[in-house]
Amino acid sequence: MRRAIVRGTGHYLPERVVENSWFEDKLDTSDEWIRARTGIERRHFAAEEQRTSDLGILAGRAALENAGLSADQLDAVIVATSTPDLTFPSVATMVQAGLGMRRGFAYDIQAVCAGFVYALANADAMIRAGLAERVLVIGAETFSRIMDWTDRGTCVLFGDGAGAVVLEAAEAEGASSDRGILATDLNSDGQYRDLLYVDGGVASTGTAGHLRMQGNLVFRHAVEKLADTAHHALDKGGLGPEDVDWLVPHQANLRIIEATAKRMQLPMDKVVLTVADHGNTSAASIPLALSVANAQGRIKPGQVLVAEAIGGGLAWGAVVLRW
Ligand code: ACO
Repeated sequence: MRRAIVRGTGHYLPERVVENSWFEDKLDTSDEWIRARTGIERRHFAAEEQRTSDLGILAGRAALENAGLSADQLDAVIVATSTPDLTFPSVATMVQAGLGMRRGFAYDIQAVCAGFVYALANADAMIRAGLAERVLVIGAETFSRIMDWTDRGTCVLFGDGAGAVVLEAAEAEGASSDRGILATDLNSDGQYRDLLYVDGGVASTGTAGHLRMQGNLVFRHAVEKLADTAHHALDKGGLGPEDVDWLVPHQANLRIIEATAKRMQLPMDKVVLTVADHGNTSAASIPLALSVANAQGRIKPGQVLVAEAIGGGLAWGAVVLRW
């Protein structure tokens, strides 16, 4: 059978770093509160002229370099984003052009913070079905553009950035010892759409809108649903929590990550953490964490990784892969 294996990773973070203290004279908040409640210490914000596609192109280029491939060796580009440059065309086609790729196809996926997990599952399905040999999967976001800067419950949480993974088809046994994506688990439940949404859009207000969140309710769903989806994905892959070398969680809140690891009975030294330095970069957070950990040489061939995320929708899911 065919499997989608990881051939390379890359990321890009905008130059501007904003520490928690930056918010202190603008809002009734403190570095201490933000650190204690979220684990976030700083985040990156894109420059005024930088768009989501610019971040995606830089991350995509880094992943191609890491993979030792050129853009024309790709069959497809998938970008997970909720903050596109324009309503259309897709960010993915802009990235395709920016990379100088003149063949194949490109499209966006929107599942908010779960977007990268959805995009990986999509690329995996295409590769296994023989529709593509190599797919560049990117998570790229400029959430700073949809913040309400007067809402202390949301604007301190998010950051901008992009991460990318090159997936490539490989022949495999069909066993849990194979390299590559072993299983995926996707879920959504639209009855919770009001817990986390943006209050603008093309067909409603004609504006981009601002992010609105009932944080404490999302928190409760996250703790319960993330461990469940990770367990389901492991089960489908013929593995258990004891086989996991690295949990690569969506980096929304350290307390959610700790609670999920505890429910999976994983020690925190098996968890990739970037939330302190990146904040919540939505669909970019998992590929950013993966690329940072890979660049640090922490992920070794043959190791089992579980990536999981939840976001607006609610939409959530997990991917199990062997490096
Ligand atoms: N500084 C100081 N106080 C604050 C701040 C702040 N930045 N933000 C909120 N507070 C206050 C609230 O107003 C509230 O005050 P009150 O009791 O006087 O009303 C108090 O802190 C407690 O508020 P809670 O919302 O209950 O605080 P909680 O401990 O739940 O932390 C947080 C809030 C960090 C938002 C948390 O709920 C969270 O991380 N939620 C999940 C976020 C998430 O994972 N989202 C999913 C992905 S995002 C996506 O898909 C786009």
